[in-house]
Amino acid sequence: VSTWDGDEYQRRFDRLAERGAAVHGEADLVASYAPVRVLDAGCGTGRVAIELARRGVDVIGVDADASMIATARRRAPELSWVEASLVGLALEQRFDLVVMAGNVPLFTPEGTEAALVAGCARHLEPGGRLIAGFSSDRGYGVDDYDRDAHDAGLVLEDRWSTWDRAPFTEGADYAVSVHRLAATGGATGGGAARTDPA
Ligand SMILES: C[S@@+](CC[C@H](N)C(=O)[O-])C[C@H]1O[C@@H](n2cnc3c(N)ncnc32)[C@H](O)[C@@H]1O
Repeated sequence: VSTWDGDEYQRRFDRLAERGAAVHGEADLVASYAPVRVLDAGCGTGRVAIELARRGVDVIGVDADASMIATARRRAPELSWVEASLVGLALEQRFDLVVMAGNVPLFTPEGTEAALVAGCARHLEPGGRLIAGFSSDRGYGVDDYDRDAHDAGLVLEDRWSTWDRAPFTEGADYAVSVHRLAATGGATGGGAARTDPA
């Protein structure tokens, strides 16, 4: 299924880069954690994954949109791209970092946000991090996200309002959140660490 035009989407970023804009804020933040294996969750055209691979990180990109994945494959045929929904995703591999850049939770089918976050969480190694950046004023906010992350066994470690770590203040309309899976034990499923009786 395609709701995006991958080439058109990528052109916007290419044009920004041509004008000298900094377009790798997400990769910069991810790289600051020195990850070995990264899952680019909702990778789109591979913007973040391709930059991380260039910096020597082992990456896999997953996206449900056929056009986005086709563009990613064309841009970097040597990397691994998986056309699949993160909801219910079950790859063999685990990652020390999963990144969701570019509003992914706002584009998952309505009602699947918790399953999306759980899908990311169950691909983390113990101690691994999920980093997500999205507009927090479009119906799915940081409280919703923290609840879904908690239910998936994740604990909030840090939150900023930009990828270059500007403070997250009351009323900020964008959130970059870093959640962490416990270093021991680990999630075996989306609700592994759920402690509430419901
Ligand atoms: C705005 S794009 C961001 C793409 C890329 N991460 C970036 O930063 O350029 C949002 C992407 O999330 C993907 N997406 C949303 N929900 C998804 C899901 N449940 N499973 C896989 N991909 C999903 C969409 O297909 C789309 O490519």
